[in-house]
Amino acid sequence: MQESVNNLFIEHFGYRDSNLYCEDVSIGNLVAKVGTPVYVYSKRAIIQRIRAYKDAFKDYQTLICYALKANSNLSILKIIEESRLGADIVSGGELYKAKKVGFPSSRIVYAGVGKTDFEIEFAIREGILSFNVESQMELEIINQIAKKYGKKANVSIRINPDVDPKTHPYISTGLKKSKFGIDIHQAKEVYKTALKLENINIVGIHCHIGSQITDLSVYEEAAQKTAELVFQLKREGIELQYFNIGGGLGIRYRPEDKVPTPKDLANIVIPIASQTGLKLIVEPGRSIIGEAGALITKVMFLKDKGDKHFVIVDSGMNDLVRPSIYNAYHHIVAVKQRDRKIKADIVGPICETGDFFGIDREIDWVDRGDLIAILSAGAYGSSMSFNYNVRPKAIEVLIDREKFSIIKEREDYKHITLLEEEI
Ligand code: LLP
Repeated sequence: MQESVNNLFIEHFGYRDSNLYCEDVSIGNLVAKVGTPVYVYSKRAIIQRIRAYKDAFKDYQTLICYALKANSNLSILKIIEESRLGADIVSGGELYKAKKVGFPSSRIVYAGVGKTDFEIEFAIREGILSFNVESQMELEIINQIAKKYGKKANVSIRINPDVDPKTHPYISTGLKKSKFGIDIHQAKEVYKTALKLENINIVGIHCHIGSQITDLSVYEEAAQKTAELVFQLKREGIELQYFNIGGGLGIRYRPEDKVPTPKDLANIVIPIASQTGLKLIVEPGRSIIGEAGALITKVMFLKDKGDKHFVIVDSGMNDLVRPSIYNAYHHIVAVKQRDRKIKADIVGPICETGDFFGIDREIDWVDRGDLIAILSAGAYGSSMSFNYNVRPKAIEVLIDREKFSIIKEREDYKHITLLEEEI
């Protein structure tokens, strides 16, 4: 039995004999078989995080709905479904994937400001647990479509509590000025409308204020505002079953990051939810899969411009766009530990200045052909990847102790052009 690799700040990634491992698989050996760029995921890390959530909420009636947008690879979804979690979806495509791996409709919730008629029909036919409705007009359309099918659609109103989640503005959703949810002050009227609609079944209330949240007081504020509305609704004779506080728990991107745990989150939201007596729903995405994944890429060239150095790798913003669009920090390490260091911008091959993974980063010395790992890339990495510059998407691999399985094949040029016509 090998010692477990836990000498990096994230679990299940670490060095053995100066080589980076994920669980018991050497990244160098893996790359020799599957090439680069490759997303690797630790199965144990995923299971550990699922357990942490289940443990944290075990004493209160809670449905944990994994947010598919963070990473919807079918093999990863299967692990999550087999752990009896539910699914939080934002599109018909995610509903398709959730059903494909067997999530029961009774554990699926669906938020999103722009659900199409087709998507609404699909979700009504599947009989999902709750549409998290984001406008009065959407509510009316859901009612009309449900009527067509002779069904009642389960709905919650997604309220916008006007709480600042103190995170990156692009991933803040609970502020009044954002497009998400219904203004908390208008919500009561929307519930009253919903009550009158024949094909609507009101089941709950929903609130998701943002992502990568590390200051839990914002959950307290949002949950309290939501609970107050639940009490007001009760007084109006509107009874709910579910109190959904959304996702958003932050993860470690830097070695020095201290982040709250699912238990810390539970300690804040359970007391508030329990005052209402409603069942709780949480929708974690990043905090299930984020730290469990890394993007491995190969150094192609080194370039020196006087005092500025560049390490040019074979992966680009098309594989991991977070640094480019949010200026997000991902910790980067060399796969082989060396005594010397290099300070450089770690950049991709794409024709955009924004195509970088890190600026002025000090990492162990790398040369052409060496590998680097971009950490905490399991969430919003592959799920946000795209084909710009006609670049095939990365292969994805799940690691389970000393075994690895390809869970997404590498795209090739044929895949990329499959749906294009030459006329
Ligand atoms: N529930 C709803 C309604 C959401 O909109 C989201 C994320 C989640 C749950 C899951 O949040 P999480 O637990 O993963 O923070 N692309 C950005 C993040 C966008 C998050 C969108 N909504 C990023 O890479 O940081």
